[in-house]
Amino acid sequence: MPIVVFNQKGGVGKSTITCNLAAISAHQGLRTLVVDLDPQGNSTHYLLGEAADEPPASLAEFFDQTLKFTARPKSTADFVVASPFDNLHVMPSSPALDELHAKLESRYKIYKLREALDELADDYDRIYIDTPPALNFYTRSALIAANGCLIPFDCDDFSRRALYALLENVQEIQADHNDQLEVKGIVVNQFQPRANLPQQLVQELIDEGLPVLQPYLSASVKIKESHQQSKPMVHLDARHKVTTEFVALHEALGALNDSPTSKSRSRGRV
Ligand SMILES: Nc1ncnc2c1ncn2[C@@H]1O[C@H](COP(=O)(O)OP(=O)(O)OP(=O)(O)O)[C@@H](O)[C@H]1O
Ligand SMILES: [Mg+2]
Repeated sequence: MPIVVFNQKGGVGKSTITCNLAAISAHQGLRTLVVDLDPQGNSTHYLLGEAADEPPASLAEFFDQTLKFTARPKSTADFVVASPFDNLHVMPSSPALDELHAKLESRYKIYKLREALDELADDYDRIYIDTPPALNFYTRSALIAANGCLIPFDCDDFSRRALYALLENVQEIQADHNDQLEVKGIVVNQFQPRANLPQQLVQELIDEGLPVLQPYLSASVKIKESHQQSKPMVHLDARHKVTTEFVALHEALGALNDSPTSKSRSRGRV
Protein backbone atom coordinates (compact mmCIF):
# COMPACT_ATOMS: atom_id res chain seq x y z
CA MET A 1 0.00 0.00 0.00
CA PRO A 2 2.65 2.64 0.80
CA ILE A 3 3.27 5.19 -1.93
CA VAL A 4 6.68 6.82 -2.13
CA VAL A 5 7.13 10.23 -3.71
CA PHE A 6 10.60 10.17 -5.18
CA ASN A 7 12.85 12.29 -7.32
CA GLN A 8 16.56 12.76 -6.72
CA LYS A 9 16.26 16.33 -7.98
CA GLY A 10 15.58 18.92 -5.31
CA GLY A 11 12.64 21.29 -5.27
CA VAL A 12 10.42 19.45 -7.75
CA GLY A 13 7.42 19.26 -5.39
CA LYS A 14 7.89 15.96 -3.50
CA SER A 15 6.86 17.34 -0.11
CA THR A 16 4.07 19.48 -1.54
CA ILE A 17 2.56 16.53 -3.41
CA THR A 18 3.01 14.08 -0.50
CA CYS A 19 1.28 16.35 2.01
CA ASN A 20 -1.54 17.53 -0.21
CA LEU A 21 -2.47 14.05 -1.40
CA ALA A 22 -2.28 12.79 2.18
CA ALA A 23 -4.43 15.66 3.45
CA ILE A 24 -7.06 14.82 0.83
CA SER A 25 -7.05 11.12 1.76
CA ALA A 26 -7.50 12.05 5.42
CA HIS A 27 -10.17 14.64 4.61
CA GLN A 28 -12.09 11.92 2.77
CA GLY A 29 -12.09 9.82 5.92
CA LEU A 30 -9.22 7.48 5.09
CA ARG A 31 -6.80 6.75 7.93
CA THR A 32 -3.64 8.29 6.57
CA LEU A 33 0.03 8.29 7.55
CA VAL A 34 2.83 10.47 6.20
CA VAL A 35 6.37 9.19 6.72
CA ASP A 36 8.89 12.02 6.38
CA LEU A 37 12.29 10.56 5.54
CA ASP A 38 13.88 13.88 4.60
CA PRO A 39 16.13 15.34 7.33
CA GLN A 40 15.04 18.80 6.08
CA GLY A 41 11.63 17.97 7.59
CA ASN A 42 9.55 20.02 5.18
CA SER A 43 6.55 17.66 5.26
CA THR A 44 6.77 17.46 9.04
CA HIS A 45 6.60 21.26 9.28
CA TYR A 46 3.87 21.49 6.68
CA LEU A 47 1.62 19.08 8.59
CA LEU A 48 2.57 19.70 12.21
CA GLY A 49 3.37 23.44 12.15
CA GLU A 50 5.31 24.64 15.18
CA ALA A 51 4.91 21.26 16.88
CA ALA A 52 7.40 19.97 14.29
CA ASP A 53 10.25 21.64 16.21
CA GLU A 54 9.87 19.27 19.15
CA PRO A 55 7.68 16.37 18.14
CA PRO A 56 6.91 13.86 20.93
CA ALA A 57 8.34 11.06 18.76
CA SER A 58 10.31 10.85 15.53
CA LEU A 59 11.62 8.61 12.80
CA ALA A 60 15.15 9.27 14.02
CA GLU A 61 14.21 7.59 17.33
CA PHE A 62 12.72 4.70 15.38
CA PHE A 63 15.92 4.19 13.36
CA ASP A 64 18.08 4.74 16.44
CA GLN A 65 16.23 1.92 18.17
CA THR A 66 17.10 -0.43 15.30
CA LEU A 67 20.77 0.18 16.09
CA LYS A 68 20.55 -0.74 19.75
CA PHE A 69 19.56 -3.69 21.79
CA THR A 70 16.64 -2.65 23.96
CA ALA A 71 15.01 -5.00 26.42
CA ARG A 72 11.60 -3.44 25.85
CA PRO A 73 11.61 -1.92 22.38
CA LYS A 74 8.89 0.58 21.51
CA SER A 75 6.43 -0.54 18.88
CA THR A 76 6.31 1.27 15.55
CA ALA A 77 3.03 2.98 16.48
CA ASP A 78 4.89 4.76 19.31
CA PHE A 79 6.84 6.75 16.71
CA VAL A 80 3.69 8.11 15.09
CA VAL A 81 2.33 11.57 15.95
CA ALA A 82 -1.21 12.88 15.36
CA SER A 83 -1.46 16.00 13.19
CA PRO A 84 -4.02 18.78 13.82
CA PHE A 85 -6.08 17.31 10.95
CA ASP A 86 -8.53 14.44 11.46
CA ASN A 87 -7.31 11.00 10.33
CA LEU A 88 -3.85 12.34 9.48
CA HIS A 89 -0.78 11.04 11.31
CA VAL A 90 2.91 11.68 10.77
CA MET A 91 6.16 9.84 11.44
CA PRO A 92 8.13 13.06 11.83
CA SER A 93 11.58 13.79 10.50
CA SER A 94 14.27 15.56 12.49
CA PRO A 95 17.83 16.72 11.74
CA ALA A 96 19.10 13.69 13.72
CA LEU A 97 18.27 11.58 10.64
CA ASP A 98 21.33 13.13 9.02
CA GLU A 99 23.62 11.96 11.82
CA LEU A 100 22.22 8.42 11.77
CA HIS A 101 22.54 7.94 8.03
CA ALA A 102 26.06 6.48 7.84
CA LYS A 103 25.52 4.09 10.76
CA LEU A 104 22.25 2.79 9.34
CA GLU A 105 23.84 2.20 5.97
CA SER A 106 26.90 0.41 7.31
CA ARG A 107 24.77 -1.87 9.49
CA TYR A 108 22.40 -2.99 6.74
CA LYS A 109 19.19 -1.58 8.20
CA ILE A 110 17.66 -1.12 4.75
CA TYR A 111 14.63 -3.39 5.43
CA LYS A 112 13.69 -1.85 8.79
CA LEU A 113 11.27 0.70 7.36
CA ARG A 114 9.48 -1.98 5.34
CA GLU A 115 9.08 -4.13 8.46
CA ALA A 116 7.77 -1.15 10.41
CA LEU A 117 5.22 -0.17 7.78
CA ASP A 118 4.09 -3.80 7.48
CA GLU A 119 3.34 -3.62 11.20
CA LEU A 120 1.17 -0.54 10.63
CA ALA A 121 -0.62 -1.82 7.53
CA ASP A 122 -3.85 -2.65 9.37
CA ASP A 123 -3.97 0.76 11.06
CA TYR A 124 -3.93 2.86 7.89
CA ASP A 125 -5.79 3.04 4.60
CA ARG A 126 -3.12 5.19 2.95
CA ILE A 127 0.59 5.62 3.66
CA TYR A 128 2.62 8.27 1.82
CA ILE A 129 6.40 8.50 2.11
CA ASP A 130 8.30 11.71 1.42
CA THR A 131 11.97 11.32 0.52
CA PRO A 132 15.07 13.54 0.44
CA PRO A 133 16.50 14.76 -2.89
CA ALA A 134 19.12 12.01 -3.10
CA LEU A 135 19.43 8.31 -3.77
CA ASN A 136 20.67 7.28 -0.34
CA PHE A 137 19.81 4.93 2.53
CA TYR A 138 16.53 6.70 3.23
CA THR A 139 15.25 6.78 -0.34
CA ARG A 140 16.26 3.16 -0.89
CA SER A 141 14.49 2.16 2.34
CA ALA A 142 11.39 3.94 1.08
CA LEU A 143 11.51 2.32 -2.36
CA ILE A 144 11.88 -1.07 -0.68
CA ALA A 145 8.94 -0.36 1.66
CA ALA A 146 6.55 0.98 -1.00
CA ASN A 147 4.20 -0.61 -3.50
CA GLY A 148 3.73 2.49 -5.57
CA CYS A 149 6.04 5.25 -6.69
CA LEU A 150 5.08 8.76 -7.80
CA ILE A 151 7.66 10.85 -9.61
CA PRO A 152 7.15 14.61 -9.58
CA PHE A 153 8.35 16.36 -12.71
CA ASP A 154 8.89 20.12 -12.77
CA CYS A 155 8.82 20.72 -16.53
CA ASP A 156 12.53 21.39 -16.80
CA ASP A 157 14.86 19.95 -19.43
CA PHE A 158 17.45 18.83 -16.84
CA SER A 159 14.67 16.98 -15.03
CA ARG A 160 13.57 15.28 -18.22
CA ARG A 161 17.11 14.02 -18.82
CA ALA A 162 17.46 12.91 -15.21
CA LEU A 163 14.22 10.89 -15.43
CA TYR A 164 15.86 8.03 -17.29
CA ALA A 165 18.54 7.50 -14.66
CA LEU A 166 15.86 7.79 -12.02
CA LEU A 167 13.68 5.14 -13.62
CA GLU A 168 16.71 2.86 -13.90
CA ASN A 169 17.30 3.26 -10.17
CA VAL A 170 13.70 2.32 -9.48
CA GLN A 171 13.99 -0.71 -11.77
CA GLU A 172 17.14 -1.82 -9.98
CA ILE A 173 15.32 -1.73 -6.62
CA GLN A 174 12.41 -3.62 -8.22
CA ALA A 175 14.76 -6.31 -9.48
CA ASP A 176 16.94 -6.64 -6.40
CA HIS A 177 14.64 -5.98 -3.46
CA ASN A 178 10.99 -5.27 -4.16
CA ASP A 179 9.08 -6.85 -7.03
CA GLN A 180 5.87 -5.27 -5.67
CA LEU A 181 7.10 -1.78 -6.54
CA GLU A 182 5.17 -0.16 -9.38
CA VAL A 183 5.72 3.26 -10.91
CA LYS A 184 2.24 4.74 -10.54
CA GLY A 185 3.18 7.65 -12.69
CA ILE A 186 4.86 10.95 -13.29
CA VAL A 187 3.17 13.94 -11.65
CA VAL A 188 3.61 17.08 -13.70
CA ASN A 189 4.05 19.98 -11.29
CA GLN A 190 4.19 23.76 -11.73
CA PHE A 191 2.74 23.35 -15.22
CA GLN A 192 2.29 26.57 -17.17
CA PRO A 193 -0.13 25.83 -20.00
CA ARG A 194 0.59 29.07 -21.86
CA ALA A 195 4.33 28.49 -22.16
CA ASN A 196 5.55 26.33 -25.03
CA LEU A 197 8.46 24.56 -23.37
CA PRO A 198 6.54 22.74 -20.59
CA GLN A 199 3.98 21.50 -23.15
CA GLN A 200 6.77 20.25 -25.36
CA LEU A 201 8.69 18.54 -22.53
CA VAL A 202 5.59 16.77 -21.21
CA GLN A 203 4.62 15.71 -24.73
CA GLU A 204 8.07 14.19 -25.18
CA LEU A 205 7.55 12.09 -22.05
CA ILE A 206 4.17 10.91 -23.32
CA ASP A 207 5.58 10.13 -26.77
CA GLU A 208 8.28 8.04 -25.14
CA GLY A 209 5.58 5.95 -23.47
CA LEU A 210 6.16 7.16 -19.92
CA PRO A 211 3.14 7.05 -17.59
CA VAL A 212 2.27 10.73 -17.23
CA LEU A 213 -0.63 11.19 -14.82
CA GLN A 214 -3.53 13.61 -15.28
CA PRO A 215 -4.27 16.29 -14.32
CA TYR A 216 -1.13 18.41 -14.27
CA LEU A 217 -0.63 20.63 -11.21
CA SER A 218 -0.56 24.36 -11.90
CA ALA A 219 1.99 26.74 -10.48
CA SER A 220 0.41 28.92 -7.82
CA VAL A 221 1.63 31.25 -5.09
CA LYS A 222 -1.18 29.88 -2.94
CA ILE A 223 0.98 26.78 -2.43
CA LYS A 224 3.65 28.88 -0.72
CA GLU A 225 0.99 30.44 1.49
CA SER A 226 -0.22 26.94 2.30
CA HIS A 227 3.31 25.93 3.41
CA GLN A 228 3.76 29.07 5.42
CA GLN A 229 0.49 28.53 7.28
CA SER A 230 1.08 24.78 7.69
CA LYS A 231 -2.28 24.13 6.11
CA PRO A 232 -2.55 21.80 3.12
CA MET A 233 -4.53 23.25 0.22
CA VAL A 234 -7.73 21.30 0.95
CA HIS A 235 -7.88 23.08 4.32
CA LEU A 236 -6.59 26.47 3.19
CA ASP A 237 -8.77 26.92 0.14
CA ALA A 238 -10.92 23.97 -0.88
CA ARG A 239 -12.16 25.68 -4.04
CA HIS A 240 -8.81 26.81 -5.36
CA LYS A 241 -7.82 25.56 -8.82
CA VAL A 242 -4.75 23.76 -7.46
CA THR A 243 -6.86 22.08 -4.78
CA THR A 244 -9.26 20.73 -7.39
CA GLU A 245 -6.27 19.48 -9.37
CA PHE A 246 -4.93 17.68 -6.30
CA VAL A 247 -8.37 16.15 -5.65
CA ALA A 248 -8.58 14.95 -9.26
CA LEU A 249 -5.06 13.53 -9.08
CA HIS A 250 -5.97 11.79 -5.82
CA GLU A 251 -9.01 10.30 -7.52
CA ALA A 252 -6.94 9.16 -10.49
CA LEU A 253 -4.57 7.39 -8.13
CA GLY A 254 -7.47 5.76 -6.31
CA ALA A 255 -8.74 4.49 -9.66
CA LEU A 256 -5.26 3.13 -10.42
CA ASN A 257 -5.20 1.33 -7.06
CA ASP A 258 -8.62 -0.20 -7.52
CA SER A 259 -8.28 -1.28 -11.10
CA PRO A 260 -6.67 -4.59 -12.08
CA THR A 261 -5.79 -3.03 -15.42
CA SER A 262 -4.06 -0.29 -13.55
CA LYS A 263 -1.29 0.61 -15.91
CA SER A 264 -3.47 1.06 -18.96
CA ARG A 265 -5.17 4.05 -17.32
CA SER A 266 -2.00 6.04 -17.17
CA ARG A 267 -0.50 6.95 -20.46
CA GLY A 268 2.00 4.27 -21.29
CA ARG A 269 4.10 1.96 -19.22
CA VAL A 270 7.45 1.76 -17.58
N1 LIG B 1 2.55 23.80 -7.88
C1 LIG B 1 3.35 24.69 -7.28
N2 LIG B 1 3.17 26.04 -7.45
C2 LIG B 1 3.99 26.92 -6.86
N3 LIG B 1 5.01 26.60 -6.07
C3 LIG B 1 5.24 25.29 -5.86
C4 LIG B 1 4.45 24.27 -6.45
N4 LIG B 1 4.92 23.06 -6.06
C5 LIG B 1 5.97 23.33 -5.26
N5 LIG B 1 6.16 24.66 -5.15
C6 LIG B 1 7.23 25.33 -4.40
O1 LIG B 1 8.47 24.83 -4.83
C7 LIG B 1 9.35 24.65 -3.73
C8 LIG B 1 9.78 23.20 -3.65
O2 LIG B 1 8.66 22.39 -3.35
P1 LIG B 1 8.81 21.12 -2.43
O3 LIG B 1 9.49 21.50 -1.15
O4 LIG B 1 7.51 20.46 -2.35
O5 LIG B 1 9.82 20.27 -3.33
P2 LIG B 1 10.69 19.00 -2.89
O6 LIG B 1 10.90 18.19 -4.12
O7 LIG B 1 10.07 18.35 -1.72
O8 LIG B 1 12.05 19.72 -2.44
P3 LIG B 1 13.30 18.98 -1.72
O9 LIG B 1 13.95 18.18 -2.79
O10 LIG B 1 14.16 20.10 -1.22
O11 LIG B 1 12.73 18.13 -0.63
C9 LIG B 1 8.58 25.12 -2.49
O12 LIG B 1 8.96 26.45 -2.22
C10 LIG B 1 7.14 25.07 -2.91
O13 LIG B 1 6.37 26.06 -2.27
MG1 LIG C 1 10.90 17.86 0.12
